[in-house]
Amino acid sequence: MIETIHIDLPGRAYDVVIGPGLLAQAGTWIMPFLKRPRVLIVTEENVAALHLGELKSGLAALGIMSEALVLPPGENTKSWPYFEQTVEWLVAQKVERGDIVVAFGGGVIGDLVGFAAATVLRGVRFIQIPTSLLAQVDSSVGGKTGINSSSGKNLIGAFHQPTLVLADTSLLETLTSRDFLSGYGEVIKYGLLGDVAFFDWLELEGKNLKPMINNTLSVNDTVKARVWAVKRSVEMKARIVESDETERGDRALLNLGHTFCHALEAATGYGDRLLHGEGVAIGCALAFELSARMGLCSQEDPSRVRAHLKDMGMKTDLADIDGILPDADTLLALMRQDKKVINGQLQFVLVRGIGDAFVTGDVPADTILNVLRDGLVSH
Ligand code: GLY
Repeated sequence: MIETIHIDLPGRAYDVVIGPGLLAQAGTWIMPFLKRPRVLIVTEENVAALHLGELKSGLAALGIMSEALVLPPGENTKSWPYFEQTVEWLVAQKVERGDIVVAFGGGVIGDLVGFAAATVLRGVRFIQIPTSLLAQVDSSVGGKTGINSSSGKNLIGAFHQPTLVLADTSLLETLTSRDFLSGYGEVIKYGLLGDVAFFDWLELEGKNLKPMINNTLSVNDTVKARVWAVKRSVEMKARIVESDETERGDRALLNLGHTFCHALEAATGYGDRLLHGEGVAIGCALAFELSARMGLCSQEDPSRVRAHLKDMGMKTDLADIDGILPDADTLLALMRQDKKVINGQLQFVLVRGIGDAFVTGDVPADTILNVLRDGLVSH
């Protein structure tokens, strides 16, 4: 049940290996890339408590020594102080140009460690072992690395492709329902932006992917369904990244829902009030609403998107965000701080229907404000 997606970038090609039980076999997968039998692992406390022992003993069984830096969990770790700590730790561990650094965690760890690997000794190789659904389907693939600035999310970073990605789908079983659904926001995004058949499938099978519920599938079929969902997501991302590694064009499609999402994350403090994938899901619903109001897609499309999010038990509307939100004008101003602004013009990913997204800067501010105002009224 192991699937491999090859990311075909000239001189920087790599595989994303997807399947259950990969963590225990990590040594076998990593060994061919090692110049000496030693890796430096960077992880966070929650992942370390659950899975670091298994990773280290799997490596040790093949004679691979490992040292680990364990950072605090949470978005705040994606910041200058922890970047400095990570780089200084790698230097103190006498990291060499030929070494491999392992980013073992969710999106925060992957982005931070990837950026540290991009800069220490002017660049060392790194391997992603993503532990969250969000990281498995999105952030571990495609080489975007970085940290947040006090002015906004992901404003400091580098493109640095990993050498290998090991997405062990068994690890999804230990996620909380909330973390799983947050990652599922990114899974839905792929169907919405470019594959209506995948969205159709998610409408039928999405609930069976969740951990810790009595679903209608056998254990084996649940595992297969999860592997398929991660594989299809990664496959879509792979083809987009291959055609536009540094986001000069099509890669921006992967930002469906993200312009709204980044403003909502800024408004809620990048924390527990709104997880990134939750913001993506709400942002996708808003992008469909905006597209419908601009006459680009049918009125049924936003309803269908929202119905699936609700069916999954996900945050769907602005009203689902706890606490007070800023007004529509403030949210629009926060959107303008996003790095997806070209010549002062906001770039949006809009849709002609489910599975048919495109990028445009041609969106009237009034229509955006109306969509936000209507969402905030019910808040
Ligand atoms: N998460 C969007 C991208 O990788 O381009």
